[in-house]
Amino acid sequence: MTMPSMSADTGGCPVVHGAVPLSGPRFHTDPHHLYREMRRDHGPVVAVELPGGVPAWLIIGYRELHQVTSDPELFPRDVALWNQWGNIAEDWPLLPMVGRPMPSIYFTAGAEHRRHVDMVEPAMETLDPFELRRDCEELADRLIDGFCGRGEADLVADFAVPLPVLIMARILGFPDEDGPDLAWAMKALADGGVDAQAGYVRFGEHMRRLLASKKARPGNDLVSRMLAHPGRFTDEEYILDLQAITAAGHLPTSDWIGNSVRLMLTDERFAAALGGGRRSVGEAMNEVLWEDTPTQILAGRWAARDTRLADKVIRAGDMLLLGLAAANADPHVRQHLTPGSEPVNTGNSAHFAFSYGEYRCPFPAQQIAEIIARTSIEVLLDRLPDIDLAVPAQNLVRRPSAFLRGMTSLPVRFTAVRAVGGTP
Ligand code: HEM
Repeated sequence: MTMPSMSADTGGCPVVHGAVPLSGPRFHTDPHHLYREMRRDHGPVVAVELPGGVPAWLIIGYRELHQVTSDPELFPRDVALWNQWGNIAEDWPLLPMVGRPMPSIYFTAGAEHRRHVDMVEPAMETLDPFELRRDCEELADRLIDGFCGRGEADLVADFAVPLPVLIMARILGFPDEDGPDLAWAMKALADGGVDAQAGYVRFGEHMRRLLASKKARPGNDLVSRMLAHPGRFTDEEYILDLQAITAAGHLPTSDWIGNSVRLMLTDERFAAALGGGRRSVGEAMNEVLWEDTPTQILAGRWAARDTRLADKVIRAGDMLLLGLAAANADPHVRQHLTPGSEPVNTGNSAHFAFSYGEYRCPFPAQQIAEIIARTSIEVLLDRLPDIDLAVPAQNLVRRPSAFLRGMTSLPVRFTAVRAVGGTP
């Protein structure tokens, strides 16, 4: 096999030899087979090509991903280091996802990142899990009231997508009436269509108003707790952090709900739970984090200097994409994939769904996401116990993305019931 090499500074179009295009339907129809082939042909670190011929490394080995995420000095999440900025056009389609340097928790590195984490994490930690659960139950009931009389629904559009935004709006301290407009702005942003720019502007306006109102009148909410932290932050920094928290939390939590409900509706092992059994909700959710995780690939890390990783030469400023889903399936840690090796049981949480190390999803954010996903699924199954797919399982379609794994829709039917909050 020839060693792939990337030329980072060719002056013009980047040159990638033997690189695997990081696009195409197999990333969403058949990722496990695809990663198995990549592992066989390229090993744990794969030279890949992004749209426009942009080169990157995709880390698909569990050990190598652990190595990269455990070494924030050598591999910081510092997009400013990228050696490809000269080749990136303003309208490059992945730019919104890769991001650019800005003073927020998500796009800073080193000491500056830690300064943001020290303000954001403790504010998240003080959220009362019981109160959060109550809020989730109430908002899940409200959404279910909107469709339970119909006997059918699309659980993605009617439930899994709006619910996390409405709850995030509560957590942050928005008045309830702002929830639907915030949900619209988030969806417009995530869809990346004609409304994306308007969604971005609206999202910023909401955050700006919220910050001003909490500065004037603090309350029992996340924004007020962030403001109470003694560190000094500008309004822009607070607003960018609030945007990062909401954007980082929204889609993965929606997809965690959608992918878990899909598993429960399509896999016989979970059929018993549909009658109201609860133990299996947690099992399905954990299995999804291993096998069908919302964040499949994450951009990323950037090499601080020339180095080697597995059998590859990494140059300073190269982008490393974290292959979270691929690493979860690495036969080195999965006994059923390599007989005789030390097993990692999917019942535990040694998966990479929330990444690892300095820049991982903050622990309190993971707990918040868990409460939102588990409560919403439990309420759904309690309210609509005979819920079933309205289309054959093989007709369910994944979003066409190599990066974020979720359903485009999840059509279900059930016996129509009355709304609990009023008439159906
Ligand atoms: C309420 C829900 C959530 C919130 C508020 C949230 C918030 C965040 C924040 C603020 C970060 C940036 C952390 C940092 O820079 O230090 C982050 C990173 C991340 N989150 Fe979450 N998150 C949520 C749910 C989820 C879910 C459900 C998943 C996937 C199952 C997920 C996966 C990740 C990943 C993979 C990263 C990147 C970590 C890295 O770069 O290594 N998050 N999240």
